[in-house]
Amino acid sequence: METAAISEDVSCSETLKTIYERRAVRKYKQIPVDHELITKVLDAGRMAPSAINKQPWKFYILTGSETIKAFSKEIAKVTARTFVKTHSGTDVLKTAIHVFHMLKEGDLFKRPDPIFHGAPVVVFIAAPRDNEWAPIDIGMCAQNMMLAAKALGLDSCPVGLAKYVEQTRIFSRLQVPLSEQVYMAVILGYGDETPETHQRIRNNAFFIE
Ligand SMILES: Cc1cc2nc3c(=O)[nH]c(=O)nc-3n(C[C@H](O)[C@H](O)[C@H](O)COP(=O)(O)O)c2cc1C
Repeated sequence: METAAISEDVSCSETLKTIYERRAVRKYKQIPVDHELITKVLDAGRMAPSAINKQPWKFYILTGSETIKAFSKEIAKVTARTFVKTHSGTDVLKTAIHVFHMLKEGDLFKRPDPIFHGAPVVVFIAAPRDNEWAPIDIGMCAQNMMLAAKALGLDSCPVGLAKYVEQTRIFSRLQVPLSEQVYMAVILGYGDETPETHQRIRNNAFFIE
């Protein structure tokens, strides 16, 4: 697989700079984020394109550290159960690899916040279940939010595992109506690490005349 660091000079454009500097950050300072700043990030999400301009996203936002930890632990339990269920039988090796990845930063269940990485803000993003384009719209919305966060001096990480919140015993606390599905979460905060840039796969573009 051909991979490379994409290192063209992007300093000429603030937008490109933000795109190239965003990272999935998994360590945060315990500094709260102003509600005004959270609103700016949500507004950027709301500016995303959406199929037939439905703007299907709904945001459910946690800012209390005890609440975040409670959800994190419950989602971790569901995640572990799900991996075992979906990778049982002949897939034992795959299960072992998944579990290894989940545990490599320490025991999943011993960490106070295994899913949301100690971020002070968790934004669950949901959309109506009957919208076939919702997963794409939500992805665009989330990316807008993460780029806006970077531009505003915050860090972020998309958390797909957050979708398992629906299977937790405390899901009702989010007050998501039955008609909606939770697709993911975006976590926000002031990062306490600068992860290396992952190499990008570059042999995946095919120009056809
Ligand atoms: C749909 C999606 C789901 C993801 N889910 C998780 C997750 O549950 N937990 C996590 O720590 N990172 C998650 N990530 C972050 C990816 O691991 C990360 O974006 C990838 O390793 C590339 O790193 P970068 O964002 O720093 O370029 C997810 C990313 C995407 C796009």
